[in-house]
Amino acid sequence: MELRSVAETAELEGATLIAGVMEGLEPLAGSEEALSSVDRALLEASGFEGKNGQTVTLPHADAHAVLFVGMGDEASFGSIRSASGDAIRSVKTERAISLLALAGVDEATRAVTEGSLLGGYQFRAYKTDDKALDATAVDILGGVSEEMEAAVIDCEATILARDWVNTPAKDKSPEMLAGLVEEAATGTDVEVEIWDRTMIEEAKLGALLGVAAGSDRDPRVVIMKYRPEGATRHVALVGKGIIFDTGGLSLKTATFMEEMKDDMSGAAAVMAAVIGIAKRGLVVDVTVIAPLTDNAVGGDATRPGDVLRPVEGPTIEVLNTDAEGRLILADGLGLAKRYEPDLTIDVATLTGAAAVALGKQVAAVFASDSEVAQQVLGAANRVGEEFWELPLFRGYRKSIDSNIADIKNISGGRYGGAIVAALFLAEYAGDRPWAHLDIAGPARREETTGEHVKGASGVAVRTLIELAGDLAEAD
Ligand code: BES
Ligand code: MN
Ligand code: ZN
Repeated sequence: MELRSVAETAELEGATLIAGVMEGLEPLAGSEEALSSVDRALLEASGFEGKNGQTVTLPHADAHAVLFVGMGDEASFGSIRSASGDAIRSVKTERAISLLALAGVDEATRAVTEGSLLGGYQFRAYKTDDKALDATAVDILGGVSEEMEAAVIDCEATILARDWVNTPAKDKSPEMLAGLVEEAATGTDVEVEIWDRTMIEEAKLGALLGVAAGSDRDPRVVIMKYRPEGATRHVALVGKGIIFDTGGLSLKTATFMEEMKDDMSGAAAVMAAVIGIAKRGLVVDVTVIAPLTDNAVGGDATRPGDVLRPVEGPTIEVLNTDAEGRLILADGLGLAKRYEPDLTIDVATLTGAAAVALGKQVAAVFASDSEVAQQVLGAANRVGEEFWELPLFRGYRKSIDSNIADIKNISGGRYGGAIVAALFLAEYAGDRPWAHLDIAGPARREETTGEHVKGASGVAVRTLIELAGDLAEAD
């Protein structure tokens, strides 16, 4: 999708005007003319009432058509973004002209940009039909260029993550995914280092190797460094990169396994975020660490009862091979420490329990202290991603004491699973400021609506870029 911010309507002919209508058929500011230019009776006869998510297309004297999109009862950043997503999927011409940025709402240009790019996203690599969206270009009337350019970068990073996650596990072995990442970072200021099995063995990443033991496809660690001149802060981003989670010998049932190509969403988010951060030119040092491996069931797969030695920190008795994310993150967090970052954030589709607690649309945040929690929640709130804090309640810590090793990878009980997993990670994060984002719920959207498209969501990418921007601005 080609976006432009324009001061005036150039050529109306052949284009679709996107106009906003409030519930009760009042025009959104900026859409008055479009509304008064159509046959009111025709609009009313269509059943369109201006409700959220409603769209109707009518002929227009100068343009090809005008597409009215329902704004519900509030003109806000969120309603403009959502309406822009609903609209873009209904446009039947190549070019659209959005009037929604004229609404006089703060950052309306960003809202239209995000709605158009994220809501207009399609993953068509495996489709043979010709059902691509008709719209290929949107002119944002009254758009603010710098706002649009920054939003485009953020959306492209989100889309990069969506593409990686949507790709079938067969076509994104650790080696292949690392290659895709390297390719995506080409031409940016991000330096990419890829560790193969030998390097992983030399570095003694015993927990990652333990998870990888069941797979014929060798693991990788992707390390990405962004070091802009003048940076005073350093953030480390660690992502869970399980290419496909069968559960290992503690095998998942078919239904639970269905969507497990999503299990590298955390790695995808951090790898895409640093590319976005670099393209935005944010002045903050970033180090990304993404351990990538399958969790499979080969003959040498790690068995329940086996003990793994991560690069540093407590030895781990693996009692359930399906609690594998925390194992590879133990090594990821151990590596991150070596860079002495001011802040470490890990992102992971870690526990079904997080989705049970918060549902499929809200991600969990755990943090070493409330200041870090507020940093993450503040950034998430500004970009409109839903994150809620859960407690790192120390009372559950002893439930992962192990009989023969320092720690075990499950508590054995059914309750508080997301918290137990976070407490496990805390052992490896050390005393540094740290946050853990459990995105098991919102990594995938179940429905296409507004800026959301069914499938991989790219959640956390924009929150991480926003957070990096905050750090760049600090002191
Ligand atoms: N990848 C899963 C978590 C998950 C579940 C992500 C559903 C997305 C949707 C993770 O590796 C896992 O299997 N966790 C187990 C932990 C348990 C064995 C302690 C879980 O949540 O059941
Ligand atoms: Mn698992
Ligand atoms: Zn997993």
